[in-house]
Amino acid sequence: METFSSRLEMQAEQVWAANWRDDHTAASATNYPHQWLQDSVYIAEGLRWLDAEKAAQELNTLLAAQWQNGMLPHQVFTRGRLGGEPQLNLDYLVWGSRRNPDAPRDTLTSGITQPPVLADAVWRVGERMSGRRRHEFFQETVPKLANYHTWIYRERDLNDSGLMSAVHPWETGMDNSPPWARHMQAGEHSALTFAAGKLATGGLINRLRRDIRETDATQRTSNITNAANANAALRLRHLKYDSAQMRARHSPYVEDIAMNSILIRNNTILCELAASSGHRLSSDLTAKMAQTERNLNQLLDDETRLYFSRDALTGEPWKIPTIASLLPIYAGSLAVGRTAKLAEHLKNSASFASQFSIPSVPIDSPYFQELSMWSGPVWLNTNHLVLDGLERAGYADQAEALSESTLLMVAKNGMYEYFSALTGRGLGVQNFSWTAALTIDLLHRAN
Ligand code: GLC
Repeated sequence: METFSSRLEMQAEQVWAANWRDDHTAASATNYPHQWLQDSVYIAEGLRWLDAEKAAQELNTLLAAQWQNGMLPHQVFTRGRLGGEPQLNLDYLVWGSRRNPDAPRDTLTSGITQPPVLADAVWRVGERMSGRRRHEFFQETVPKLANYHTWIYRERDLNDSGLMSAVHPWETGMDNSPPWARHMQAGEHSALTFAAGKLATGGLINRLRRDIRETDATQRTSNITNAANANAALRLRHLKYDSAQMRARHSPYVEDIAMNSILIRNNTILCELAASSGHRLSSDLTAKMAQTERNLNQLLDDETRLYFSRDALTGEPWKIPTIASLLPIYAGSLAVGRTAKLAEHLKNSASFASQFSIPSVPIDSPYFQELSMWSGPVWLNTNHLVLDGLERAGYADQAEALSESTLLMVAKNGMYEYFSALTGRGLGVQNFSWTAALTIDLLHRAN
């Protein structure tokens, strides 16, 4: 076990070292050359074991891109902060986020957010610092985190229920998760997606896609879903990412179950961070936090005992089981019996307990696709969230087993972006930063 761990850690460290870029880590050197919100969080959670200061820098770089209204963007563009005249590049130009006066002037960012999982990383990085340095780090970061959570409730609590809405599948970090993909392809987007589908048959679009240069197209979001997602991003750009305009004219708004589960846990951590650094959170904010916890069960399906996202505009639940349905385990606020039900789902070999688990879509689902990103494959970040929740809820054995099987899967197949739930085969890009970082975190947590 000793050599197994040290060899694996060394491999993971090499991936991170190759992807480090002065003040942050590229999500992948090839396909994702920029900084992503949730990627940075998971990267910092691993990096803290190697170098807590670098991990803090990773998070501080992300926080430096915070918008004036409090939003944290899901993407921070690397070339935009090389100093002097920002070197615009195509990736940024697609977003045009400076149309919004709240966007930072000295950094180039996207105009949407990602799951609010940052407080968790701040806490964990702080754990690796000396008392004095930790205090300083918390003093620096907690007001920014509080502004971010305040933004979430001010701009994204559409129905004043305490449940936040995502306005784009890329915000959830699960780009082609079946309930989202299905929704994005439906209705108003049909003409465009039909055209994209036609072009796809001719292979034209495939030649323009960076994400399939290294990875086979079967492992990526389909052209149709991609076109629908891109179309929704262009609509947001057109509305200048302005919440008032978005509320009047944008769709979708979705009370996403992954995002709300993550919000609850990170609210709890933010309260602890604030208490330990002497920062007072507003009573409006803490009242909202309590409301999210109270109302999460509005997303619980009585029949399956799984949680589902809900369309915030129509109230319709999206009853397609995915890994997101289990993430309330991570929230840490569920009644004991409800956690037990979710933990049982994780043991069901017909659905979520696949040969290599946890699949992003259960293997008995008609939507399961072995190779396609968030439509079936196993990801380290969701395994990490689930096992963290299991551990806190007292399911130490189940958490340990998941940690071990995850590490074995990575050791055997490599630091890939995601893995087949049926064979463990590595999929997506190689040398993916958060796979490497979370491997390091799991190795250390196991000790
Ligand atoms: C893809 C993933 C998302 C991730 C991003 C950068 O879009 O679906 O979760 O944050 O790539 O790695």
